[in-house]
Amino acid sequence: MNRTWWKEGVVYQIYPRSFKDSSGNGIGDIYGIIDKLDYIKSLGVNMIWICPIYSSPNDDNGYDISDYRKISEEFGGNKAFDILLNEMHKRDLKLIMDLVANHSSDEHKWFQESKKGEDNPYHNYYFWKKGKADKPPNNWLSVFSGSAWEWDPNLNKYYLHSFTKKQPDLNWENPKVREEIYDILNFWFSKGVDGFRMDVISFISKRLDFPQAKKGSTLSEMMENIYANGPRIHEYLKEMNEKVLSKYDIVTVGEGPGVNLETGLNYVDKKEKELNMVFHFDHLQIDFGPEGKFDPQPIDFLKFKKVFSDWDSLLRNKGWNSIFLGNHDFSRIVSRFGNDQKYRNESAKLLATLLMTLRGTPYVYQGDEIGMTNVKYPSIDYYDDVETRNAWKEAKGNNKNMDDFLKAVHRQSRDNARTPLQWNDTEFAGFSTNKPWININSNYKKINVESEEDYSDSILNYYREIIRIRKNNLTLIYGDFLDLEPDNEKLYIYKRWDKQKTFVVILNFSDDKILCDLNDLSSMTLVIGNYKKSVYDGSMDPWEARVYSY
Ligand code: GLC
Repeated sequence: MNRTWWKEGVVYQIYPRSFKDSSGNGIGDIYGIIDKLDYIKSLGVNMIWICPIYSSPNDDNGYDISDYRKISEEFGGNKAFDILLNEMHKRDLKLIMDLVANHSSDEHKWFQESKKGEDNPYHNYYFWKKGKADKPPNNWLSVFSGSAWEWDPNLNKYYLHSFTKKQPDLNWENPKVREEIYDILNFWFSKGVDGFRMDVISFISKRLDFPQAKKGSTLSEMMENIYANGPRIHEYLKEMNEKVLSKYDIVTVGEGPGVNLETGLNYVDKKEKELNMVFHFDHLQIDFGPEGKFDPQPIDFLKFKKVFSDWDSLLRNKGWNSIFLGNHDFSRIVSRFGNDQKYRNESAKLLATLLMTLRGTPYVYQGDEIGMTNVKYPSIDYYDDVETRNAWKEAKGNNKNMDDFLKAVHRQSRDNARTPLQWNDTEFAGFSTNKPWININSNYKKINVESEEDYSDSILNYYREIIRIRKNNLTLIYGDFLDLEPDNEKLYIYKRWDKQKTFVVILNFSDDKILCDLNDLSSMTLVIGNYKKSVYDGSMDPWEARVYSY
């Protein structure tokens, strides 16, 4: 067994705009994070991933970077960053930054220069193509609606943008671009940063013949078949590893839209020397319908469980998994995979149990540790997210039923996870002293950190306990995994074991009380459960979670 710090730890993910505002301008910032480091530490996590905090025009809330070496002034600038890093290291917390290198902002100097003309030294930092008869070079779609090509009247050419038109894709074919990115990585590593989450890293190598996507392809199909896993992706990642990553004791996790069971291992196979972990989306796109994210379908629970088994066996002994159920791009986990009404408390704890007992490094997204829920704003005007707003415009243009579309937005919008963290029950939920950049979820008087602190059986305290249990049991970290009842429609029952110990985890993913004969468990010890039942009565209560060991 190869023991490694980033396998044994737990990551806490911060969406900085919505975490804690220290300046009173309604926008979360770095000093706000510093104020709350003791709180984060109290959870028992040892790594913090912070979504982008660099200079940015914020067309996509920081995922459009205009200067990779400058921390946004709105967030406190480079000075605040240095203090943050120092305060984190004092507390033995590692910092994972976000590297957004598939694209930059159109306001980055590179793009501004690139636009000036074909002779400009930066021209080939991006993809410029001639269109056909007033039509874009091909039918590729932007992940955020519309064509992936934008016309530049000055150059008479189109440029590629897989996301918004303010996020032009960088041309990794150009060795100068790769060197720029490696320099940026070195810049932050030499400051002491402990790792990077790499945004849409699966997209960085393009299919240079720019093939037309099959007619009628959905966005997910395009991502899997065309945008992701391009011909030189592994060459680039190996080069980055050899030239930069291998020089430091750091952790990397690549965001991998379009990465699947066939392509996943290549990114994280130890012997390939590329990345440590990848985020795949097989379980998070599970409810996407034929028309994508905003066409949500019921979740197929058997399929959901199978995703975890399949990925575990894919990576067993070869790579390492990342375990997450949500982030800033998806709705709240308790609303999506649990029951955020009658069983919010129970199901939030059950999901925490799942996160902490699978094999792989667990990621906790801010607010999930207190069971924050989706938000239902009354109209589209309350939404900020560019993906949601663009999808809305497109649906309207296509004469969709907009009442139904609003329901889909309530269920799927990224803003569900972006409402400010609820610290207490005072005005603006203790997040800010002023009206925040996006409305607070109206349930903040009931759901907030302060009230969770006061209550020993709270979701928050359950997170602390289950994280502590995971940290103290190497079996839960490295031990083998087996789904014991893959065909069970309501229960998720699996074991984790090694030579020292065996754990059996039983999770009732339903609102029903389910008879479940656990005779074999009578000789086992109950390690943790989310109901206060000391004696097992032969049935699993709604959303009950029990972890046994022997
Ligand atoms: C990733 C980020 C998302 C962003 C997109 C474009 O998916 O997680 O928030 O919008 O990349 O950078």
